[in-house]
Amino acid sequence: MKHRAVKRRTVVMGIGATAGVAAVGGIALSAQASSKSSSSSDSLKFDADAYAKLTTTITDTEGTEHNVTYHFWKAITYVANPVDATYQSLIVSAPVEIDGTAVDPANAPILLANSIGGYMPSSVADATAVGGGGSAMGGGAAPSAAPSSSTSAAPNANANTNTTGGATAGNQLLALAAGYVVIEPGARGRTLKNSDGEYYGTAPAAIVDLKAAVRYIKANQGLIPGDTERIVSAGTSAGGALSSLLGASGDSPVYDKYLEELGAADASDAVFAVGAWCPITDLEHADGAYEWNWGTNDLATGKQVDQSVSKDLKAQFAEYQAGLKLRGLAGFGPLTARNYDDYLVEQYLQPSATRYLAALSDSDRETYLAKNTFITWSGGRAAFAWDDFLTHVGARKKDTPAFDAFDLSAGENNEFGAGTTETRHFTAYGAKNDSTGLSTKRVAADVPEKLNLMNPMYHLVEKVNDRRSKHWWIRLGTSDSDTSHVISANLAARLDNLGDDVNHLYYWDEGHGANTDPGDFITWIGTVTSYGKGKKGKRN
Ligand code: DHB
Repeated sequence: MKHRAVKRRTVVMGIGATAGVAAVGGIALSAQASSKSSSSSDSLKFDADAYAKLTTTITDTEGTEHNVTYHFWKAITYVANPVDATYQSLIVSAPVEIDGTAVDPANAPILLANSIGGYMPSSVADATAVGGGGSAMGGGAAPSAAPSSSTSAAPNANANTNTTGGATAGNQLLALAAGYVVIEPGARGRTLKNSDGEYYGTAPAAIVDLKAAVRYIKANQGLIPGDTERIVSAGTSAGGALSSLLGASGDSPVYDKYLEELGAADASDAVFAVGAWCPITDLEHADGAYEWNWGTNDLATGKQVDQSVSKDLKAQFAEYQAGLKLRGLAGFGPLTARNYDDYLVEQYLQPSATRYLAALSDSDRETYLAKNTFITWSGGRAAFAWDDFLTHVGARKKDTPAFDAFDLSAGENNEFGAGTTETRHFTAYGAKNDSTGLSTKRVAADVPEKLNLMNPMYHLVEKVNDRRSKHWWIRLGTSDSDTSHVISANLAARLDNLGDDVNHLYYWDEGHGANTDPGDFITWIGTVTSYGKGKKGKRN
């Protein structure tokens, strides 16, 4: 396992063309132009000449430095009728020279890396270099206009330190050093509020924005660098959830009315492959899955959660899981609430510990095993029981219910807010047990549709979307209790059962947002897209 951080230095070399005045095919362009008309064709044309030429040094996962020269397009609004262009914009980085050798990015895969965390707003408006995305800390504050290219920003300078949207930022740099095109979209998020007090970034805004970004890229095939049929989406946590959703929901008509309203480009929004780190998804079933997993673990305060609530939710999970009719990977058979502990241990957790321990020196392994006597190490394999694993992880991160809080205090309650209502319940159980004085004790009428719009499982189970991505990279830290381990495992099992190519591993002893094998992800992109076999694919 490679833990080396990715580093880079950036030097601005000059402006390749004057932004905003170039013309392509005789049409005067301004990528920032927006109009009230729904005609998207002109303002959504990518200005291929409006880039700055930058150079940066990227240290790969082996510790080797690469000198990368790339073309960088600062924030381009990707819809004709933006609600808030600060968020509905993307940046493009395309390598043209790597370690002194010219490269042509025209047919390279495109890493579509979002930096969304916590379902918060995410902006690239101020980005001046690759890796420039980040989740906004507070809602609504409009960053200043895009800066000139004379300075370069630190990666994720605008990142929300409460969330982990930027934790996979290393992917962007490694992708660039591998010769891939990197496109980083911003998106609206749950805290955004306009002057009328209306929340305009709650569900389904973020997924609609990501889809609009994909449509923009595909509509500009031939103008925008990279192979628009080989878009690989990536994100972490809420960004991982949205990346999975983008992959699962490609070209689904259920988003059409939202995309039309924004004046999204008239093109496909299907992506080729998905990278998802610790996806916080399947939100309406996540409370039950959480109690099934972490129900008996105490909070960090040492307090036990309400065991009666925990048991109710756990029972709901058993019912949901039975209804999914999933079969585990590697011939495990039907997955139920009764055998899911064995499944996680056998399929993911023991192999994860085995990989971790095998990579240690003999003396480090001995030290680790002496401290963690619940693990039996025999024949080069780790073995342990589920209950001991739970004890090993320790404190659960969230109280119960973890996502639809009775007092509406969870971020997800805000994600399902609407109009001037900041927070709402999105499960029958949460609404029934509301502690805030909600008179109806029911979820609002529009919530079920919004849940579908936000859930990849809807597109994989209730509707089986043939336009979905068929290649999936899913990663999760074994100590991550931001959601249940079942959430990723169910997603993987469903995709596998549908016949898709699923590469899903858990990182041993890693917490929320970990990405400890980014070089392998970059290699995987080369493999699944059949790009640069043997040459560029080896760069990471
Ligand atoms: C994120 C973390 C959470 O615990 C959650 O509920 C939603 C999002 C995040 O890090 O993006």
